Amino acid sequence: MSDRSSSSSNQPRIAIAGATGRIGSALASLLAADPVDVVALTRNPDAAQMPAGVAVSAVDFERHDSLADALRGVDRLFISHGTSPRQVANEIALIDAAVAAGVRHIVKVSALGPATRLLPLAWHMQVEAHLSLQPVASTALRPSAFMSVLNHIGAQVASGSWTGAAGTGRVNFIDTRDVAEAARVALIEEVEPGSQRAYHLTGPRAWTMEQVAQELSRLLGRSIVYTNQPPARQREALIAGGASPFVADLLIGLDQMFRESVLGETTSTVEELTGRAPRSLTDWLSENISIFQAS
Ligand SMILES: NC(=O)c1ccc[n+]([C@@H]2O[C@H](COP(=O)([O-])OP(=O)(O)OC[C@H]3O[C@@H](n4cnc5c(N)ncnc54)[C@H](OP(=O)(O)O)[C@@H]3O)[C@@H](O)[C@H]2O)c1
Repeated sequence: MSDRSSSSSNQPRIAIAGATGRIGSALASLLAADPVDVVALTRNPDAAQMPAGVAVSAVDFERHDSLADALRGVDRLFISHGTSPRQVANEIALIDAAVAAGVRHIVKVSALGPATRLLPLAWHMQVEAHLSLQPVASTALRPSAFMSVLNHIGAQVASGSWTGAAGTGRVNFIDTRDVAEAARVALIEEVEPGSQRAYHLTGPRAWTMEQVAQELSRLLGRSIVYTNQPPARQREALIAGGASPFVADLLIGLDQMFRESVLGETTSTVEELTGRAPRSLTDWLSENISIFQAS
């Protein structure tokens, strides 16, 4: 174990699995200012850039002893695991090690949506089912699609149009910083031993891809067109554009959920938890407009 900072305080000790990722890094920065001890769990401790005061522990999901070492003395565990075929096995190994180590509350990033065969939702359902059987408190954070999924259309938008298979479906995108802020509240607040909760996290409103194109047109000051095409043709285009079959299938699955408006609902949960309205897609597009401009 590599532990660059440790504490013997009486503050709750929170471990963040996925602390180098989008949600985890934002969460680590938030918790660094709270009266808690924080330890970042990572497969690559030498590369982990953490805020001052955040400890770093190496984990190897194939080695139970590394998980047991990293979780020793931890009271609460947060999990935001990157999308990978190893996700279910890794998260279950982590949960089992946490329960054995005496962790009392596990907060897991899952995903909004119905019971489905689509990945990665189906993986989250498997992990949630496992977590629900454990004798510890748990909170499933179920966010809608991240605004940052729009990163992958940046180069196409820069050329004036993009294609997808989302049809006229609606999707309520969420900013990953709002997921991190909701996670902070879920981790900080005291929960009853063994309690089980799920929070459905969305942005402030749903959008069709046509409306996203109109908003990009307004922000960029030129016409951006969204073109719908059948999923099979979209998959071919993604692979021709360099996506692996795994990533192409994930994106086609996402478009299916968009097309069916499965992620179209709006909840008040982010505001209820954080006391602040969720960030808007317009603000995210404005902050990240360079992604959609020709370089
Ligand atoms: N994209 C969406 O629209 C969306 C919507 C709802 C839910 N979600 C869920 O949100 C989660 C992703 O959250 P995020 O964006 O914060 O994660 P992320 O940035 O993609 O990755 C988080 C961390 O996971 C760790 N990790 C451990 N094993 C991994 C492996 N085998 N492959 C990849 N990463 C691995 C990595 O940390 P180290 O390298 O430091 O170990 C990585 O920094 C996923 O579970 C996804 O299903 C996504």
